[in-house]
Amino acid sequence: MAAYSLLMLPGDGIGPEVMRQVRRVIDWMSRRRDLEFTVSEGLVGGCAIDAHGVPLSEATMEQALAADAVLLGAVGGPKWDTVSYDKRPEAGLLRLRKELELFANLRPAVVFDALVDASTLKPEVVRGLDIMIVRELTGGIYFGEPRGIEDLGNGIRRGINTQVYTTPEIQRVARVAFELARKRGNKVCSCEKRNVMESGLLWNQDVTALHAAEYKDVELSHMLADAAAMQLVRNPKQFDVIVTDNLFGDILSDEAAMLTGSIGMLPSASLGAADASGRRKALYEPVHGSAPDIAGRDVANPIASLLSFGMALRYSFDRAEEADLLDRAVQNVLKGGMRTADIMSPGMARCSTSVMGDSILRELDKLVA
Ligand code: NAD
Ligand code: IPM
Ligand code: MN
Repeated sequence: MAAYSLLMLPGDGIGPEVMRQVRRVIDWMSRRRDLEFTVSEGLVGGCAIDAHGVPLSEATMEQALAADAVLLGAVGGPKWDTVSYDKRPEAGLLRLRKELELFANLRPAVVFDALVDASTLKPEVVRGLDIMIVRELTGGIYFGEPRGIEDLGNGIRRGINTQVYTTPEIQRVARVAFELARKRGNKVCSCEKRNVMESGLLWNQDVTALHAAEYKDVELSHMLADAAAMQLVRNPKQFDVIVTDNLFGDILSDEAAMLTGSIGMLPSASLGAADASGRRKALYEPVHGSAPDIAGRDVANPIASLLSFGMALRYSFDRAEEADLLDRAVQNVLKGGMRTADIMSPGMARCSTSVMGDSILRELDKLVA
């Protein structure tokens, strides 16, 4: 059996703390299942700025292009908040996404039964929730030109960003959403702001045309993105798959995270197009950031990162059985009452990042015993 190459980029803040637990699960999978990984590590974000003066070195970019999958922790922090945009920690992550052409970002928001009470919403609103946000990841206002800050003189400056989408960019991500919906609840809700943005109108028209041509069997609806933000907390279970642009997807997925109890629970997969042999470039990362407010204290929730590795097992390595095993281990540990601080509720046992990792590994052992 050929070994899969994994590039781990733990990054900044809580990134290294949560990725340490991911490494333990990778090693467990190598030991206990017929899976072989060659794992290398690299720097991205603030730690790469400190070491090399850039948020992503050419060598690390090359490694990422060659890897079967990249696993990223998180980037950023107050230490690097004053540097220019092209040199910020976040620029390293954006470059990875752009150069690997990871145009589809899958962000599932699933409420585990044991965590129904951890959500700030009423139990009946979130119980059983299982939605998938498909966020466009390599276009839109994150990358549009022109951008920058212009000096107009007399102390007046102008900040510019450009929202821009083309039909192929819209249709390739919509296609991912329709294909996913066919394997789930068969519904896609496309979100934009066609009432004020031409790019939103084009998004709406291109999704509609693709649906009519190839996906009539899938139920398609359209919603203005602001209304979708409201519906996500009013009645989130009306949604199955949501497809939306880069910026709205960023915001809606943080909102969806809180339906599940904590942003520390939400994994993601960023996928490129499949090549002739069916392989896609891919990067897996939690939806949360580097959480500078809790970094270095071994209190962060590692579950979002662990489930992101689960998505790698599913989408890059076709190992649904192992991904299910990991999901089940996480669910059983939560059922047993173990909680990191972010998902703590009365009567449960508060634990550290590493003890959550210990418990999940022990549960994996039990499940295959
Ligand atoms: P954040 O997601 O880092 O933190 C928001 C809040 O959620 C904080 O209170 C934090 O303590 C909490 N939190 C986040 N992850 C958690 C976890 N696993 N367990 C428990 N609590 C958790 O967002 P922010 O504070 O707005 O951003 C901090 C930095 O992270 C910024 O520099 C930002 O650019 C960066 N960021 C990076 C990524 C990424 O690398 N993918 C994503 C989002 C933000
Ligand atoms: C995310 C983050 C990133 C984004 C930042 C860190 C560039 O918020 O992955 O959700 O805005 O895409
Ligand atoms: Mn975000």
